[in-house]
Amino acid sequence: MTPTHAHRFITIEGGDGSGKSSHLQALADLLRSTGAEVVVTREPGGTPLGEKLRSLVLSTPMTLRTEALLVFAARHEHLELVIKPALASGAWVLCDRFTDSTVAYQGGGRGLPLEQIQILEDWVHPDIQPSLTLLFDLDPAIADRRMAGRNLDRFEKESLAFRTRIRESYLARAAQAPERFRVIDSSLPLREVQIIALAQLRAWLDANTL
Ligand code: TYD
Repeated sequence: MTPTHAHRFITIEGGDGSGKSSHLQALADLLRSTGAEVVVTREPGGTPLGEKLRSLVLSTPMTLRTEALLVFAARHEHLELVIKPALASGAWVLCDRFTDSTVAYQGGGRGLPLEQIQILEDWVHPDIQPSLTLLFDLDPAIADRRMAGRNLDRFEKESLAFRTRIRESYLARAAQAPERFRVIDSSLPLREVQIIALAQLRAWLDANTL
């Protein structure tokens, strides 16, 4: 199967402790099994400056607008230096978090108006959206239990109410764009979640390749 270029940007999303990143490699392997080149990357991050911005955002208290501007600054670097060149070369890009995270965390979680996030999105990537987003959905109370004993960053230390708003925001966004989102129940054992995620990706590839 030969996928069209417009289809080659895939993101994974979910609240902290949802286990999404554990599935990144298996998803990349499935894409590679089609013979494609795959760039696996993450946000905030994915470039040297982006990783510095990530450290700042995850560790340093800041105002909400600064937080939004920094994640979009990292995103701009990432798009220009990594994502767009990879897509232009015909590779797949599999990205751990993208603008849906900003909508869920800075929007749903912290209350930044969505119109303001939309302005930043229009500025930074008016021309590019993920074709498929796998949303690993998990009750934050269960996520809390999974994260117990870990070293937590600024977002992971937030209240259950904050993380419940993030979950609701993700689910609302998924409901608005059902053609792009696949919601995966992450309360199941990790192995089962992985099987479902791979099956969703395989089904999407089968339906979207020429
Ligand atoms: P995460 O992707 O969960 O990485 P790890 O598994 O190493 O903890 O951490 C990134 C954090 O950044 C996560 O808590 C969500 C937050 N974030 C935002 O608040 N806004 C954004 O736009 C992005 C991309 C991430």
